[in-house]
Parts: sequence; structure tokens; C-alpha cells
Amino acid sequence: MKTYLVTGGAGFIGSNFVLYMLKKYNDITLINVDALTYAGNLENLKSIENNENYHFVQADICDKDAIKQVFEQFDIDYVVNFAAESHVDRSIEDPETFVKTNVLGTLNLLNIAKEQWSAGDDEYIEGKKYLQVSTDEVYGSLGDTGYFTETTPLDPRSPYSSSKASADLLVNAYFETYKMPVNITRCSNNYGPYHFPEKLIPLIIHNCLNHKEIPVYGDGLNVRDWLYVEDHCKAIDMVLNNGRLGEVYNVGGHNERTNIDIVKLIISYLNEHADSAITEDLITFVKDRKGHDRRYAIDPTKITNELGWVPETKFEDGIVRTIKWYLEHQDWMKHVTSGAYKDYYSKMYGQK
Ligand code: NAD
Ligand code: DAU
Repeated sequence: MKTYLVTGGAGFIGSNFVLYMLKKYNDITLINVDALTYAGNLENLKSIENNENYHFVQADICDKDAIKQVFEQFDIDYVVNFAAESHVDRSIEDPETFVKTNVLGTLNLLNIAKEQWSAGDDEYIEGKKYLQVSTDEVYGSLGDTGYFTETTPLDPRSPYSSSKASADLLVNAYFETYKMPVNITRCSNNYGPYHFPEKLIPLIIHNCLNHKEIPVYGDGLNVRDWLYVEDHCKAIDMVLNNGRLGEVYNVGGHNERTNIDIVKLIISYLNEHADSAITEDLITFVKDRKGHDRRYAIDPTKITNELGWVPETKFEDGIVRTIKWYLEHQDWMKHVTSGAYKDYYSKMYGQK
């Protein structure tokens, strides 16, 4: 009977992870600590809110007293830290918020877990683990060839990826210095249900359904390596259970696509299945993102060889499943795009 402290469990990947874990295991306790920023939404977790194995605590991961209280109330075995400011464009506008949550928040979780799990000098109670959910963006940007492996030097280029890389360095330092039981996962771009429509795939779907222009940055030829979110959740579960302490695991499914191909694919599906007024005329090339990373591509050999992880959802299936989910959850989309989202969008793209 393990007790999980999941942070950021009301966000995109975190909520998918909470749902995945509570469906897979009926003998775990899962505490979701989330500050409920603009990106956190308890609607995502409606189906499990009354599950007796699930507890929600609204708190900031930087809040020492609140996090300590969670550890005192529950005998935490695993910390899975999803909580973060996650959007590159926002980090370009406001780096400080990213450093606070992503760096200082991680440091606070590490400190409290270290203190609460201590069994003497550099010794820890058996079976504990801290898992940092990191990103392939810490490796920087690739040219036309090559892949990120776990030994690729860190070379973050945006305030977001720099804050995530800083957090990774702290996690590694707690392993080397204090022998804390830790793992880091570095995953490529996720897609799937509950993805907030500031990110490319849900933004395309939202704009198509509302006949709004689709802003494509630069030449549209930047490449991302897309993974269905449930495959990421499975990888995290495997690393928690069997990952070697102190190790980093890259997670990705060899699924590279240019942004413009993703845009055209979604338009084509929606044109055929939802609304024939959705056409490529909606595509609008706009000014490039500052410091825009050209290409990401993960080599997942280590997690496949050591833990047997393989991506199970093919992109062709996952993207259709995702688009259908958005078509069936238009109330969810309306809810998350009301209020502050409108201000954000018009500031970013100058449109209403
Ligand atoms: P998200 O922005 O959708 O969700 C972040 C969640 O964290 C929200 O629920 C938010 O309320 C919460 N949060 C933010 N600041 C907090 C704070 N100070 N205290 C407590 N909670 C706070 O993010 P996501 O896309 O689900 O990403 C989750 C994690 O996975 C992040 O650490 C991100 O760096 C990493 N990651 C994301 C991707 C991706 O493609 N989205 C890929 C690889 C890694
Ligand atoms: O690689 C993992 C990372 O993927 C995660 O660590 C981040 O949290 C997550 O946000 C994501 O970062 P990206 O910057 O790759 O995702 P985003 O959806 O913002 O952009 C994907 C690509 O699409 C990128 O090349 C920028 C481009 N883009 C994005 C938006 C929002 C556009 O062309 N137009 C847009 O409107």
C-alpha cells in the first residue's frame, strides 16, 4: 500500500497521471497537491473526486508549512513532481514566476522529503523515492540529425527550459550529496485529453472550431517529438517502481513531426468530420518565438532496455482519439478559455 504525493495533479499530464494510477491500482493512496494556477483545473478530476484513496490539497509547492503538513498528515512513499510553470511563451514574458515554482518549489519539496524520510546521516527509510518530471527541452535544440540521450549535455535556451534544467541539477545534487533516492524523467512533447489550449495541438483544435486564425510561428518547420500522454504516465509508473536510484530516463516515441504538418493534419480531420468551413485558409504565419528551439528528438533506448517501456499509442490513433475528445468536451474547452485566457490570447496574438 504505497502513498503518492503528486504535485501539479490538476494540470494536463498530472491529471492524466492521477486518473491512470487510480484506475490501475486500488491499493494506493494518492494526494494531489496543486496551487490551481490558470493551468490547474479540478474539472479534470471530477470522475475520481469521491474516490476514498484520493485526497486533494490546494497548496503551492513553495509553501514550506503546507508541504510539511502534508508529509506529517500522510506517510508519503513517493513524490512525483509535475507542478511547474510549463509554457515557453509565458516564460519569455515572465521568467521570475518560472524560477520561483520550477526551481525554488523543487528545492522545497526536496528539502522536506529529505528531512521527513531521513533515517540517520545519508540514510533513508526503505522504499521512498522522489521523481522529478522533467523535459527534453533541457537538452536544447537539435539540427536535422541526432537524438537526445541521457548523456547529452544540458543546454537549455528558454527561461522555461533553464528553470527545468536548474531543478534537474538540484535533484541530482541531492542524490550525489545526500544520497537521496531520486529519479528524473525527461519526456518529449505530450498530447491528449485535458491539454490546455495555449499549447500547439489544443490551440489548433480550439481555433479551428471557432474559425479563428491559427498562428504558426516562423516557417512552421520546427520539429517536435509527440507522445500520447498515457504512454508518459506508464513510463513514470515504471520508473517509480523499477528505475535505478539516481538515474535519468528519457521518454519519447520516435514520432517527429513539423508543426505545419500537425496543423494541416488537424484541419483535414476536422474539415472531414466536424465542419467543412474549417480549411487551410485559417493558417497564419506569425513572428517566430524568441530563441525558438528547432528540433527535439528523444532516444528512449535506456528506458526500453532497462524497464521494458515502449510507447503503445501510435500517433495516427492518438491524434484522432485526442481530437474526438475535444469534440466531445466542448464545455471543458469553453470553461478553460473563458476569463483570463481571452486576455492572454489577445496579448499574444492581438486577436479577440
Ligand atoms: P500544466 O501547465 O498543464 O500543469 C501544471 C500544474 O501545476 C497545474 O495544475 C498548476 O496549477 C500546477 N502548479 C503550477 N505552479 C504550482 C505551484 N507553485 N504549486 C503547486 N502547483 C502548481 O503542465 P503539464 O504540461 O501538465 O506539465 C507537467 C510537468 O511535465 C511539468 O513539470 C512539465 O515541465 C513537464 N513536461 C511537460 C511536457 C508537455 O509536453 N506538456 C513534456 C515533458 C515534461
Ligand atoms: O518538449 C517538451 C515540452 O513541450 C514541455 O516541456 C513543455 O512544457 C511543453 O509546453 C512543450 O513545449 P513546446 O514549446 O514544444 O510546446 P508548444 O505547444 O508551446 O509549441 C509546440 C511547437 O509549436 C513549438 O515549435 C512552437 C509552435 N507553436 C506553438 C504555439 C502555441 C506555434 O507555431 N504556434 C502556436 O500558437
